[in-house]
Amino acid sequence: MSNQTLECSTCDSTGSKPSAVILLAGSFRKQGLEALGECGCEVVLDPSLKEAALEEAISEANPDILVVRSTKVTAKMLDASENLSVIVRAGAGYDTIDVAAASKRGIFVANCPNKNSVAVAELAWSLILACDRKVPDQVIDLRNGNWNKKEYSKAKGLYGRTLGVVGLGGVGKEVILRGKAFGMEIVAWSRSLTDNVATELGITKCDSLLKVANMSDVITVHLSVTSETEHIIDEEFLHAMKDGATLINTSRGKVIDEMALVKVLQEKNIVVGLDVYQSEPTTGESEFTPEIINQSSVYGTHHVGASTEQAQDAIAM
Ligand code: MLT
Repeated sequence: MSNQTLECSTCDSTGSKPSAVILLAGSFRKQGLEALGECGCEVVLDPSLKEAALEEAISEANPDILVVRSTKVTAKMLDASENLSVIVRAGAGYDTIDVAAASKRGIFVANCPNKNSVAVAELAWSLILACDRKVPDQVIDLRNGNWNKKEYSKAKGLYGRTLGVVGLGGVGKEVILRGKAFGMEIVAWSRSLTDNVATELGITKCDSLLKVANMSDVITVHLSVTSETEHIIDEEFLHAMKDGATLINTSRGKVIDEMALVKVLQEKNIVVGLDVYQSEPTTGESEFTPEIINQSSVYGTHHVGASTEQAQDAIAM
């Protein structure tokens, strides 16, 4: 194998044939590795594998199971494998995997739903609070030796205000729980939200997405990206938002029309917190300079919603 960082460990100490060969093309927590070993699997781990190197590793290790985090899995990579029967996405979204190509080859694709929902909800709340209190700007000003209590005393506060939740999967529900603790009124929209579920959750169901935009002081988006949800947060939605409202997205970049967002930000007073971007790197480190990040009313993080130790332990297990 050309990649020198590749580590092979035959986890079955008896020397008998492993129950499965697993290629882990992404970082993976220790407990999970140990547990796979206890199951008698041979584990090939290389967090740096991507593109041509991943294709080569698939061809050489000939895994039964491929586990990936943000790394893209393409049809060409699948052609490099003889034994592959399952691809596991070590996360909730599987938009980085060519599911159609996998299905065509009889390869199952699995994800780990809800294992990192709390972590993503926590980041959504970090961004909501940061936007209200302008925490990043305050930090920068203080580091530059500027005391500006006058400017930063203008926060609106969250208590009693309306939180609009778009998408009611695991993350949306965790966000709602925390929104109640902040004393917020909660309205929500999702394709599958029923009156009964809304009553159970103690929230108001909106019949349309635009209603969420009209009613909310803070909107947080928790949708997977599909042909139906791509650019669902469009110019019309952004114009329907209240003046001064906040928009948070910790789900997938493509659910927001980023060009429309850049445009509307020139015309309208809204505040934005993003963890995900329309076209973001699939690697851990890279140059990244999208226009959206240079807008003064946008706070951005590095697609780290799921990246807590707790969440990664849960995913690995
Ligand atoms: C997810 O889909 O669970 C997350 O986006 C995982 C990640 O951080 O790559």
